Amino acid sequence: MSGLQAIRYTRGKLEVLDQLKLPHEHHYDEILTSEEAFECIKSMRVRGAPAIAIVAALAHGVELHGGSCGDATTTDETISHIESRLDYLFQSRPTAVDLTNAIEHLKNTVRSVDVSGKEDHPDGREAIIDAYLAAAEEIFRKDTETNLLIGEHGSKWLLENAPTKSATGEVSVLTHCNTGSLATSGHGTALGIIRSLHTGGHLHHAFCTETRPYNQGSRLTAFELVYEGIPSTLITDSMAGAVFATKKDEKNIAAVIVGADRVVRNGDTANKIGTYSLAVLAKYHGVKFIVAAPTTSIDLQTENGAGIKIEERNPEELTQISGAVVGKDGKVDVSQTARIATAHQDIGVWNPAFDVTPAELIDAIVTERGVVVKGVDGSFDFKDIMPERWAKVVGN
Ligand code: MRU
Repeated sequence: MSGLQAIRYTRGKLEVLDQLKLPHEHHYDEILTSEEAFECIKSMRVRGAPAIAIVAALAHGVELHGGSCGDATTTDETISHIESRLDYLFQSRPTAVDLTNAIEHLKNTVRSVDVSGKEDHPDGREAIIDAYLAAAEEIFRKDTETNLLIGEHGSKWLLENAPTKSATGEVSVLTHCNTGSLATSGHGTALGIIRSLHTGGHLHHAFCTETRPYNQGSRLTAFELVYEGIPSTLITDSMAGAVFATKKDEKNIAAVIVGADRVVRNGDTANKIGTYSLAVLAKYHGVKFIVAAPTTSIDLQTENGAGIKIEERNPEELTQISGAVVGKDGKVDVSQTARIATAHQDIGVWNPAFDVTPAELIDAIVTERGVVVKGVDGSFDFKDIMPERWAKVVGN
């Protein structure tokens, strides 16, 4: 797939676009070890639920391909080594469930390789490593396919259920955080729906929030929207209510479309801080609220939002900001970056990276397997779209 690429991979070589340098600089860092991947994820050089899982899975693959398998000689030792590296990577960021699901899948994959008769032979070890690499590469490849389907299902559902449309059948939408190519292996989830609406000729306008405090909206989504030539406007998070109040009818604003870091069994959804406020506003203004989430972002083990662990980040994300310097001539000088204090450095700070939107405020959850809407009891039922996982985790 052409266009922006957060992750570049060929077997043995993994490169990640440093998103802290965007939108001013395009710099790829090579990732050679799990430690480097851990740091890259934790420092948010790569971010977004699917991209985090892909980088973790591929980084360990690069290590294995390069011959680094600890002291493992037997197949049991190889599996233990892989599991302990994956457990380490799991600690990098706690809220997004894609990483948990990817790790579980990779562990199941290596445990199920048939190595009978080769337990103490290098062939057994190689078979396990080959299976790991194939599974990690499949996670990467499948993600774009998944996103294209989410784009298709989501745009169709919105056009059928839009509370308002222009005379020519177009809608406008608002999105939060970044859910595009930079947060995934390509196309994107929520931004994928917007992209599909645009390519289908059904998008009038996209509003994107700045997404304080980390500014994924202004740094990344705004960049992607401009890059793709999608008609769009950047607003601060606090302007969303005013946009609905003053522009909903003029622009036919039909939906807020967001991604997800973790959707739990009843549909409660953890996503970037500020998502919950947008859902409340959308309800008040009669605008649809759509969550775009691959099934890898669904956590059937956790019953409702109260069970979601929310990552809290550094106070400096609120009290300081960094970016490229704007010269006296008004031009951005990408060769110079500066870090600026924007608040008293001694103020107390609370910085949860995510919030939980109750299922009650969500109209549709769009997955690659179709759109799930609420049942009469007000919660979402994922049994039909993921029957195998449901049977395994919840029972019948
Ligand atoms: O903290 P981040 O930048 O990793 O958070 C990203 C978001 O919250 C996204 O909206 C979400 O992960 C969906 S990514 C397709």
